[in-house]
Amino acid sequence: MTAAGQRHKNLLKRLAMMSTLERNHQKSHRGRPGPELVRPGSSPHWKSTGKTEARAVMSTGDRQSIHGQWSSRLAFIMAATGSAVGLGNIWKFPYITGENGGGAFVLVYILCVAGLGIPLLMAEVMLGRRGRQTPINTMRTLAGEANASQGWQLIGWAGTLAGVLILSYYSVIGGWTIGYIVHAAIGDFSGLTGDGATSLFGDFVGSPLAQVGWHTAFMAITIVIVARGVRNGLEKAVTALIPMLVVLLLILLGYAMTTGHFMQGLTFLFSPDVTHLSGTSVLTALGHAFFTLSLGMGTIMVYGSYIPKDTSIAGTSIAVAVADTVVALIAGMAIFPIVFANGLAPGAGPRLIFETIPVAFGHMAGGTLFGTLFFVLLLIAAWTSAISLTEPAVTMLIENFNVTRRAAALWTGLATWLLGFGTVLSFNVWADVKVLGLNFFEHLDFLTSNLMLPIGAISMALFAGWVMSKTMSREELDMKSEAGYALWHVLIRIVAPIAVSIILLHAIGLY
Ligand code: PFF
Repeated sequence: MTAAGQRHKNLLKRLAMMSTLERNHQKSHRGRPGPELVRPGSSPHWKSTGKTEARAVMSTGDRQSIHGQWSSRLAFIMAATGSAVGLGNIWKFPYITGENGGGAFVLVYILCVAGLGIPLLMAEVMLGRRGRQTPINTMRTLAGEANASQGWQLIGWAGTLAGVLILSYYSVIGGWTIGYIVHAAIGDFSGLTGDGATSLFGDFVGSPLAQVGWHTAFMAITIVIVARGVRNGLEKAVTALIPMLVVLLLILLGYAMTTGHFMQGLTFLFSPDVTHLSGTSVLTALGHAFFTLSLGMGTIMVYGSYIPKDTSIAGTSIAVAVADTVVALIAGMAIFPIVFANGLAPGAGPRLIFETIPVAFGHMAGGTLFGTLFFVLLLIAAWTSAISLTEPAVTMLIENFNVTRRAAALWTGLATWLLGFGTVLSFNVWADVKVLGLNFFEHLDFLTSNLMLPIGAISMALFAGWVMSKTMSREELDMKSEAGYALWHVLIRIVAPIAVSIILLHAIGLY
C-alpha cells in the first residue's frame, strides 16, 4: 500500500474511533451543551488527501473536517478574533509604532490591513473551508484538485514551522503578563514614576531563572487547553472577556486624556510624516498586518476548515479585521500620551507597555484592582492567540503521524518551550549578543513576521488567484455581489502578490 493509501486508511480508522468517542461523549454529557466543534456525523463525507482520490471528488461542498465544525458563525468569529486580538495589538503594535516614528507607519499598517489583510484573510479562510484538513493536507488536496504541483503543500509546512517559532517567543512575553499580574496585585504600581517603572521592568527581565518560570507557566496553561481540546469553555469566555479588555483599554484611554499629553499622543499616531518611513518600516507594517490578523501561517486556514458551509466568508473576515484594528488603535491612543507625559521613549521597544501601563494604573484611583484586571485580560488575550498558534502543528501531528491530541500538544509544547529559552536570554544574558545588529529574539521576530508570514500569505494568494479555478473560488466565497468578488479576485491575483513582492525585495535591499 502507498504511503497516501496508508494515511487514508489511518484517517478512516480515526473517524470511526471519533464517532464512537462522540457517542460516548454525548452519553456522558446528556443535556449539556456539546463541544463548540460539532463532530461530523457517523457517515462522514470527508474525502481523502491523495491526488487521484481527490480528483474523484465531484462536489467538495460536503467535505468535512475530521476535527469537527464550529457550532455557529459567531463561534468562528469569536475564535478568529480570539486568535487575532492578542499581544500583537496591545504589546507589539504600540512598540513597533514607536520604533518606526508613528503616523506614517500607522497609515501604512492600516492600508495593509484593508487592502491586503482582508482579501488574504478571505483567501485563507476559503482555502481552509475547501480543504477541511490541516494546512499541509488541505494544500495537498486542493493542489490535487487543480492538477497542480504537490509542492504547494510547502505552504502548510512553512506555516506550521512559523507557528512554533512565533509561539516560542510569544510564550515568553505571555509569561511577562503573568509576572505583571503579580506585581500589580501586590501594589507594586502604586505611585510609580517613569524611572521606577523602568527599573521594575529591568529587575523583572534581569533574572533568567524567573523568566523561565513565567515562560513555563504560560506554556503549561496553553498546552493543557490544547491537549484537552476543550476550546468550548474558552471560546465562550472570549466572548465575554474581549469586550471586558476593551472596556479596560477605554479606562486607560480615559486616564491618558487627563495626562495633558493626549493631543501629542494623537498627533504622534495619526499625523503621517513620511520622512520617518524606511523600506524596513514598510515591511514591518506589512508583516505586522499579517501577524495581527494571524495570517500567512495556516492558523486561519485551520479555523476556516471548521466553519459551516453557509457562513459568509467576506462578512466574517471584515468583522474580524475591524475588531482587531480597533483594539490596536485604542491601545496606541491610550499608551502614547502616557509615554510623553512621563518622559519615556516611544522607541523603547518590547518593554514599552510594561513601563507605561504600570505608571498609569499607579496614579489612578483603584489602580491596584484595575491594573491587576488589565494584565489578567491581557493574559487571556495572549492565551487564546497562543492556543491558535499551536493549531497547525497539532493538527499536522494528529493527521500525518497518527498520534493522539494530547501527545501532539505535548510534543509541540516541549519543542516551543525549549526554543523559548533563546528569547528568555535575549532580554538579559544574551541581550548584546548580536549578529547583523539583531539579537536572538529580534532575529526570530524578523524572520517570522517580516519574512515567513508575508511569503506564506503571498503563496496562498498566488494559489487562490492563479491555481484555483475562478469557478471554485466563486462558489466557495459565495459573495452576494459579483463586483465584490471581482475586486477580491484582482486584489488576490494581482495587487497582493505585486505589492508584497515589491515591499519584500525593497526591504532586503534587492532593488
Ligand atoms: N494575532 C496574534 C496577535 O496579534 O497577538 C498573534 C498570532 C496568533 C499570529 C496566531 C499568528 C497566528 F497564527
